[in-house]
Amino acid sequence: MKRSGLFIVFEGPDKSGKSTQARLLADTLKGRGHAVLHTREPGGTSVAEGVRRVLLDPSLTIDPLAELFLYEASRAQHTQEKLIPALKAGMIVISERFTMSTDAYQGVARGLGLKTTTALNRIATSGLKPDLTILLDIPVNEFDTRDQGRELDRLERENGEFRLKVRKGYLKAAKADSRAVVLDGKLPPDALQSKILALVAKKIR
Ligand SMILES: Nc1ncnc2c1ncn2[C@@H]1O[C@H](COP(=O)(O)OP(=O)(O)O)[C@@H](O)[C@H]1O
Ligand SMILES: [Mg+2]
Repeated sequence: MKRSGLFIVFEGPDKSGKSTQARLLADTLKGRGHAVLHTREPGGTSVAEGVRRVLLDPSLTIDPLAELFLYEASRAQHTQEKLIPALKAGMIVISERFTMSTDAYQGVARGLGLKTTTALNRIATSGLKPDLTILLDIPVNEFDTRDQGRELDRLERENGEFRLKVRKGYLKAAKADSRAVVLDGKLPPDALQSKILALVAKKIR
């Protein structure tokens, strides 16, 4: 696919700081005059936000394979409706979560296998790949110390063992992706922001 924009993805487990850093980056780039689309998965379009409500509803029990297809359905809609048009228009697209989440959560933590998630990710995205994926890596126990008291969604209610597998899955997926960078999510937000800006600056020419 021919496109001129820049596609940046924030990955990491729940509460790793994706929304915080995505917002900071979007604001900084907008301040410098760039056209920026800040979006998220699952969601980012009306259809995909509907799928997100199903996926994150703690009262539902969803079969792992059905869960995988719901994420990919949301991603297919998001890719066609928002990501590709914005990139074709030359915008900087910043997404909280993309294909690496599916590798970590469904491929590794749910045990469906990276072969399966890689294949379905490719189909759902029509082969669209991020120019830069920033993985905010945090130790599993960090989850319990941040945002205490907030209502947890369906995935966040999974136990520590699941979160450990998610972390391992992420590190494995990042290692296999030459355009992925792992950052220590325990660094203070402003220190992370400067590292991220330096990484992004190398991609903007
Ligand atoms: N670098 C950081 N160090 C410590 N706490 C952080 C950091 N970044 C974000 N937080 C806090 O952690 C919580 C989750 O951050 P958030 O950006 O919403 O994460 P995510 O979008 O990955 O779930 C928030 O309370 C936020 O203020
Ligand atoms: Mg968030």
